[in-house]
Amino acid sequence: MKVRAAVFASGGGSNFQALLDHQEAEGAWEIVLLVSNRESAGALGRARAVGMTTEVVKTDGRVAADVAQDTLSILAKYSVDLILLAGYLRLVPEAVVARYPQRILNIHPALLPAFGGAGMYGMNVHRAVIDSGKLESGATVHFVDEEYDRGSILAQQRVPVNSGDTPEELARRVLEVEHRLYSEAVDHLCKAILAERKPTLMTLPQEKR
Ligand code: GRF
Repeated sequence: MKVRAAVFASGGGSNFQALLDHQEAEGAWEIVLLVSNRESAGALGRARAVGMTTEVVKTDGRVAADVAQDTLSILAKYSVDLILLAGYLRLVPEAVVARYPQRILNIHPALLPAFGGAGMYGMNVHRAVIDSGKLESGATVHFVDEEYDRGSILAQQRVPVNSGDTPEELARRVLEVEHRLYSEAVDHLCKAILAERKPTLMTLPQEKR
């Protein structure tokens, strides 16, 4: 038996691709569905290229209750057990969070709880880290609740900030770490789910400078 995962993505979907590339025939989980809120998301193209089922659930200009209803019926249709947010730039509706307690993960390109929350996405995060003068950033995989970037942390890996780093350079190094960390964290969680135990926190050593 495998955990059936749906990936939610709004953008290019390199984290989705890394998860796809990592999943194994004998592994604890499989991606069964890609959901996007944007018709133009690059992640949709990546999913279609491998023949994966896709669904678009628009969010702009719609009330959360309608988005929640559509999302929940799609998740039920494909018997989804686990939701993996990968560059999904919308708040997950409360009704979905309530239906999937401790079964929604997100990856964030900084060391939460620092540099998270509304507006902290994409290059904004890396710019804020550099402006703060911190010598370290990283990637965090966390459970999702009703607020941005606040749920409990499952896995974290640190990445050094080099002197003279531009936000783009830091983003590139963090993204490389994200691609490995997310897959490892999903492996870790899904093994725990299948064994019916609570997952422990994963902390990985810092990336080399
Ligand atoms: C990643 O940095 C992720 O941490 C953040 O959004 C970015 C998505 O990149 N949530 P991609 O679409 O997976 O390439």
